[in-house]
Amino acid sequence: MLTLTSASPEETMEIGRKLSGLLLPGDLVNLNGTLGAGKTLLVKGIGKGLGIDPGAVTSPTFSIINEYEGTEFPLYHFDLYRLETELDLEQVGYAEYFFGTGITVVEWGDLFRHFLPEERLDVNLDSLDQEERQLSITGHGRRGGQLEDQLRGLLSCTS
Ligand SMILES: Nc1ncnc2c1ncn2[C@@H]1O[C@H](COP(=O)(O)OP(=O)(O)OP(=O)(O)O)[C@@H](O)[C@H]1O
Ligand SMILES: [Mg+2]
Repeated sequence: MLTLTSASPEETMEIGRKLSGLLLPGDLVNLNGTLGAGKTLLVKGIGKGLGIDPGAVTSPTFSIINEYEGTEFPLYHFDLYRLETELDLEQVGYAEYFFGTGITVVEWGDLFRHFLPEERLDVNLDSLDQEERQLSITGHGRRGGQLEDQLRGLLSCTS
């Protein structure tokens, strides 16, 4: 597990931007943490790195999924907080995204954990303070482990 702290919203966005540089089509990032911990802000940073206007990235709390067109790859942004049943998840056609060829980020993915691919990167955000957040990052499967290692290398040499 990789643990880091963010001292500001800008820093959380910057972590997302750095992470985006490692992501490839087919990758999935599972974001969890309390309300207002900074999950959507992290997605804005990921979007920014993929060539998407961060202002266009908003929580798809009611729509369940937002799709954005990045410079090279599409970004699929899920928020499962208000999803009630597994049937709802099936109705949005989750499998085509979770197991497809875009980059997928899922807020509150742990609520439907057994639908997630085994190969993924989990990020848990905890509020320590008004502006301080702890990010705990764990890669699952071969690809997830690779992403975790690459991110560790990237963050230790640039920050
Ligand atoms: N270090 C920080 N990192 C991220 N957000 C921060 C930080 N410090 C303060 N904030 C504030 O916390 C809020 C995070 O909001 P955001 O919508 O990203 O949370 P969320 O985890 O997506 O919430 P939800 O569960 O409602 O979707 C923003 O208002 C942001 O300005
Ligand atoms: Mg959110």
